Amino acid sequence: MSRETVRKSIESKHEDEQKNSTLNSVKEVLEKKYEVEIYKADESLMLKLKENRPDLVFNLSSGIVGESRQSQVPAILEMLQIPYTGSGILTHSLALHKGIAKKIFMQNQVPTPRFQLFKSFEQPLDKNLKFPLIVKPSMEGSGIGVHKDSLVYNEEEFYKVLKNRLELYEQSILVEEFIEGREFTVGILGNEPDIMVLPIMEISFDRVPEDLGKFYTFETKTKMGHLTDYICPAKVSVELEEKIKSVALRAYKALECRDISRVDVRVREDKPYVLEINTLPGLKKGYSDLPKMAEIAGLKYDKLIDVIIKSAAKRYGLI
Ligand SMILES: Nc1ncnc2c1ncn2[C@@H]1O[C@H](COP(=O)(O)OP(=O)(O)O)[C@@H](O)[C@H]1O
Ligand SMILES: [Mg+2]
Repeated sequence: MSRETVRKSIESKHEDEQKNSTLNSVKEVLEKKYEVEIYKADESLMLKLKENRPDLVFNLSSGIVGESRQSQVPAILEMLQIPYTGSGILTHSLALHKGIAKKIFMQNQVPTPRFQLFKSFEQPLDKNLKFPLIVKPSMEGSGIGVHKDSLVYNEEEFYKVLKNRLELYEQSILVEEFIEGREFTVGILGNEPDIMVLPIMEISFDRVPEDLGKFYTFETKTKMGHLTDYICPAKVSVELEEKIKSVALRAYKALECRDISRVDVRVREDKPYVLEINTLPGLKKGYSDLPKMAEIAGLKYDKLIDVIIKSAAKRYGLI
């Protein structure tokens, strides 16, 4: 089975449902002010866009296939010089590759767990990495490839999981130190000088039974969402809040994100570590993290969509 087949078969119906629902709610908001047309990201996209030349595209596409998938629609739009919301080609690709994103974080003083990338089963494990470690496919999202057994406590367990993931996902596998501690996610909107960091959200695994793993596995994200608590604004000291927001913002700037992103952070002994940055964060109304955080900040869904559009339009000098 190819990687894409695996990805598609693992991506549950659940995820398709999320995407459709997001599309409909964004469309509903935009239709109040603009003439709206939906474009499907497929091989005919370029010709359709070329024919219609929309003034601006609200990009919700995570792409079609392969490791550059999130950049495919932005690439077509750039080729046709059609303005679009969100990050550019380079940023989406770098952010999708967690290992490369981490190398850039490290160069920009963004704390991130120590890690190693594995392309083969024969590579020796870096002795500087301290167990427990977590094993993740380097270019997936939504918890794909993150399961209870991803958390490993010794070399034997590690190589067993590594072998399985290399075979299953056919891409480099990221191994990093597991940060035992609280988990947060941080929404960021806009561009310099108008960047807005939304109130931070804690994702609490307190009610998840120990044997399912106290972290965000694919299973916790999809089937056992009812066991996870989302607390926004997170109950943290002012100092910790500032530290979390500051590393998240640094990550956003390091990858040159635009208009919108969401940064996943874990905190150990009051020190935040950036796990990854999501350049196409979920926007499902009343459901996804970022719209919830925006609402706490006083931005109802309509306003959030408006802020994203305005932020993009401003970059292109359209307003
Ligand atoms: N280094 C780590 N330390 C602690 N938990 C981690 C670490 N890496 C991942 N996790 C857990 O796994 C989840 C999914 O990992 P993440 O890197 O965010 O991938 P995804 O793209 O699937 O969201 C995180 O939300 C977190 O709960
Ligand atoms: Mg994540």
